Amino acid sequence: MTKHLADRLKNLGTETAYAVSESASVLAAKGKKIYPFHLGDMNLPTPMHIVSAAIKALRDGKTTYTPAAGIPSLRMAMAEDIGSSRGVKYSMENVVIHPGGKPVIGKFLQVVMNEGDAVLYPNPGYPIYESQIEYFGGIALPYQYIPTKDGFKIDRDQVEFYLKNNNPKILIYNNYQNPLGAESDEQEMEWLAKIAIENDLWVLSDEAYFDIRYSGSSKSIVSIPGMIDRTMILYTFAKKYAMTGWRLGASIGPKYLNEQIAKINTNDEACTANFVQHAGLAAITSDQTPSKEILGKLKERRDILVSRLNSIQGIQTPLPNTTFYLFVDITGIYNKIGAVSLEDFRLRTMEETGVSFCTRQHFGKALPGETRKFIRFAYSGINVDQIEEGILKLKKYFEKF
Ligand SMILES: Cc1ncc(COP(=O)(O)O)c(C=O)c1O
Repeated sequence: MTKHLADRLKNLGTETAYAVSESASVLAAKGKKIYPFHLGDMNLPTPMHIVSAAIKALRDGKTTYTPAAGIPSLRMAMAEDIGSSRGVKYSMENVVIHPGGKPVIGKFLQVVMNEGDAVLYPNPGYPIYESQIEYFGGIALPYQYIPTKDGFKIDRDQVEFYLKNNNPKILIYNNYQNPLGAESDEQEMEWLAKIAIENDLWVLSDEAYFDIRYSGSSKSIVSIPGMIDRTMILYTFAKKYAMTGWRLGASIGPKYLNEQIAKINTNDEACTANFVQHAGLAAITSDQTPSKEILGKLKERRDILVSRLNSIQGIQTPLPNTTFYLFVDITGIYNKIGAVSLEDFRLRTMEETGVSFCTRQHFGKALPGETRKFIRFAYSGINVDQIEEGILKLKKYFEKF
């Protein structure tokens, strides 16, 4: 017998990228060699001093509940660390710890969004934004990015249109963007801050990739005057310290919002695992050389991947300075192959070459007028020799047509 389920579930989305992992595993089980470019996960180990800190914490009895907002020592250290890297002043009350960065999205929306409130969010973008907006009864307003010779730029006309016609209350902004690898230049960030202030928007600044940067320096929108009181930063330990499975992140922003968010923690998970918080404390207060080494390895992968991809006829992809993703325009090859959909293109390519990737459709519904076809390569879960081998197979396959 199938019992009735709650109506709200029809609005809950998911990460359809997990289905790509599954289809790659099915092919691998049949003996096909897979080149995993679909994973946003990392195949790099967590630095050993962080692992040791967790083991020590367990041995020292850090096995109890903690306050819902997190252990004060970690909150204080993060206020200092995130404040100084973003050029603002935070105190412990501005920081609440969570099991990962992801929970910050839904918790923030629950605190600032009423049913029927409209929310601007990036598309293509991290699919959990749209899922959580709709699940909690908001109106999703997807804004797109336009490919330019300097990388992907926010479609300002579209945002202005929404501001004029849809009265949005909230802006979700993922600078250092998944899946595009996009970053705002000074003018774009200033413009966004200006519209946020003029339209009195709450801002969720998803800074999951703030520290995954290969040259230059990252900047947070929170550092622009007028922004700190309206912005919540989503922070995660996952990428910088190769700690994806540890589940450790934080919401950093106005104290009175975080007080409410901590109340949600009390109702949900109670707190983030005690010893994991101690490992996080070790991560941010100790020598940063291991996380620089992680970046070095990612950079080597990026350079090889971009140069090998650009050796394929019909592909010309720029070199993003941040994230570990490439969003590659394959329109010409898609047409030559005669693919009928991006999923058809993905499956045929994977079955032929073993190269597994996500496509544009895993990052939100396609928007009206979109004609070009894109796929996403992640290089966080694949070594350099496998990148070379996989892309060579891809080249041979694509150049057959
Ligand atoms: C843009 C973006 N935001 C947030 C997250 C969530 O990170 P976490 O693993 O800390 O939950 C991810 C993870 O891939 C991401 O890509």
